[in-house]
Amino acid sequence: MATMESLIGLVNKIQRACTVLGDYGGEGMSLWEALPSVAVVGGQSSGKSSVLESVVGRDFLPRGSGIVTRRPLVLQLHKTENGSQEYAEFLHAPRKKFTDFAAVRKEISDETDRITGQTKQISNIPIQLSIYSPNVVNLTLIDLPGLTKVAVEGQPETIVEDIENMVRSYVEKPNCIILAISPANQDIATSDAIKLGREVDPTGERTFGVLTKLDLMDKGTNAVDVLEGRSYRLQHPWVGIVNRSQADINKNVDMLAARRKEREYFETSPEYGHLAHKMGSEYLAKLLSQHLELVIRQRIPSIIALINKTIDELNAELDRIGRPIAVDSGAQLYTILEMCRAFDRVFKEHLD
Ligand code: GDP
Ligand code: NA
Ligand code: MG
Repeated sequence: MATMESLIGLVNKIQRACTVLGDYGGEGMSLWEALPSVAVVGGQSSGKSSVLESVVGRDFLPRGSGIVTRRPLVLQLHKTENGSQEYAEFLHAPRKKFTDFAAVRKEISDETDRITGQTKQISNIPIQLSIYSPNVVNLTLIDLPGLTKVAVEGQPETIVEDIENMVRSYVEKPNCIILAISPANQDIATSDAIKLGREVDPTGERTFGVLTKLDLMDKGTNAVDVLEGRSYRLQHPWVGIVNRSQADINKNVDMLAARRKEREYFETSPEYGHLAHKMGSEYLAKLLSQHLELVIRQRIPSIIALINKTIDELNAELDRIGRPIAVDSGAQLYTILEMCRAFDRVFKEHLD
């Protein structure tokens, strides 16, 4: 297990390096696309932000009614030693350590506005955030704007399509694990997440169905058919979730208390008691981490091949520029080349 966790850590490092590389060259993108990550997909207010926060175990996402998430948020979770202090770091402000998660929320929202202005518009340019904490599992999550059906005041007519295209550009990649969020108080047949998931992953092999708002279902109804896979079959088990309600948020119910409440909900539920050990946000986080490790292990040979292709391309680029390297871009290429070589060595150690 220790070995596998360090594999995910390694992939996280490459993903960060590729984002830098992607800033001025296209070569890095193919490597980025080869690496697995988890994208959170669903309709507006289906509970995407809430699920992400529960998986992380912290409050840190901007929230509110309407379109809040307007840029993709690439969130890398790094598990640290028990007792160590939690902190967050943005790629756009690399030397600043955030220990106050309210400040993280503000920074996400400020950084969103830096690109889009204080509008209801969206941008494809991701915000990259790392969280270091003893309370997380190693995982890369991508938060995306919610799918909608109509444009609102201040949005271009194309917004519905623009959001769908942005979300699709992430989830159509074969290496993207789809966290498809559907609220239990709506008919699963009308779920935006399931609709898109079915389109890009017809066999359901990389889609995890997550059912939120179980506590908000009409009295006398339950979601056992969905949770046991009879309503819509996926290859992975469905996970039911009870997030904080708006009233809980207003009362500042903290995340750990919310997790405890969620666990109690399942354990004492007459309908879901028999499923309790496979429900809730903590179980979801473990399930995702395990799956990610499995996928990375299967991909090691192709990741090594891509790293070597990148090394070849970087060498060719350096030859073109000519050595010794005086210009900044050459020096940066050289650093990335060294990094790729190091990745190559470490990945090969995992091969045998
Ligand atoms: P997003 O727009 O998909 O990111 O959805 P949010 O996570 O912001 O949630 C939208 C609203 O639904 C918030 O007021 C949440 O408190 C509420 N909510 C989300 N999940 C649940 C849940 O499982 N139970 C209850 N009661 N409310 C929820
Ligand atoms: Na929302
Ligand atoms: Mg949201």
